[in-house]
Amino acid sequence: MSIQWFPGHMHLTRQAIAERVKGVDVVIELLDARLPGSSANPLLLQLTKGKPALKVLNKQDMADPVRTALWLAHYNALPGTRALELDASMAAPAKRLIAACFELAPHRGRMSKPMRVLICGIPNVGKSTLINTLKGQRATATGDEAGITKQEQRIVLQDGFYLFDTPGVLWPRIIVAQSGYNLAASGAVGRNAFDEEEVALELLAYLRQHYAAELAARYALEPATVSTQSEDHLLETIGRARGALQSGGRVNLQKAAEMVLKDFRQTAIGRITLETPDEFARWLAEGKKLDAERQLRKEALALNQAQRRGKN
Ligand code: G4P
Repeated sequence: MSIQWFPGHMHLTRQAIAERVKGVDVVIELLDARLPGSSANPLLLQLTKGKPALKVLNKQDMADPVRTALWLAHYNALPGTRALELDASMAAPAKRLIAACFELAPHRGRMSKPMRVLICGIPNVGKSTLINTLKGQRATATGDEAGITKQEQRIVLQDGFYLFDTPGVLWPRIIVAQSGYNLAASGAVGRNAFDEEEVALELLAYLRQHYAAELAARYALEPATVSTQSEDHLLETIGRARGALQSGGRVNLQKAAEMVLKDFRQTAIGRITLETPDEFARWLAEGKKLDAERQLRKEALALNQAQRRGKN
């Protein structure tokens, strides 16, 4: 399945971020703790290369705590990188964010040398929620100052500590197939951009391998059913058990898929994380390989066409 969604003004957003990055000390990237690798933005990584990075695993209340610990350890082992987990129920997240930024850029934070932090994240990762909580903690200054664009806001977390919200939306080009599925399952992608049945089947295929007990408990299935049935059968079994039927008593697979996705998004199946650092690294390596091969094929095709045109 290919999910490629480039909202308008991408290049403007890219320029604006590149411009803002020049004057910041730390870049905070908000990630979805259920899919940290897939919710990261490789474009952003390019734009912010060399800047100290704080990875915030948001929505940790929905994620598998054991896997969140793996991801935190993974990021904390990277040079110039710190990571922490967060969720919207934490009333005062500013303290932890501020402390982590000082660890990354200890020389900043005085009035003469303020700490300037940029916060980014793909849509639906929880950026507005976090920013609103931060705003609630302390009055914000937004707007008219030089260098702050209309779409961008600046939040004063404490004296000499400024948080800039990235302007616009920067959506990554997805080269890892599993990332497309995981983003769609998480609710980050508009529902018209993907096939719910396909995404639910991929989700079930992963869950039956890694969260079989949770799946069996949620849908009152025998554990043996979960481990022996294919995901297609599983979706049908779940649909039948939940009354997602159409005329003739057949299972309405679309409805069953919607139910499974809704259950996942509402944490009804359990606290689930769809990827580990090792898994994601493997998917990424494979995705890059396939992408490079695709690129080579495209170039060969273009060369071929140019040669043919030259002959004619
Ligand atoms: P964005 O600005 O990054 O696009 O995301 P936003 O803050 O709007 O958050 C998207 C959804 O995620 C919201 O749900 C919000 O309540 C939820 N959310 C944000 N942070 C957390 C968190 O830490 N834990 C949990 N469980 N949920 C969080 P929503 O308003 O219901 O929107 P939607 O789910 O209908 O899209």
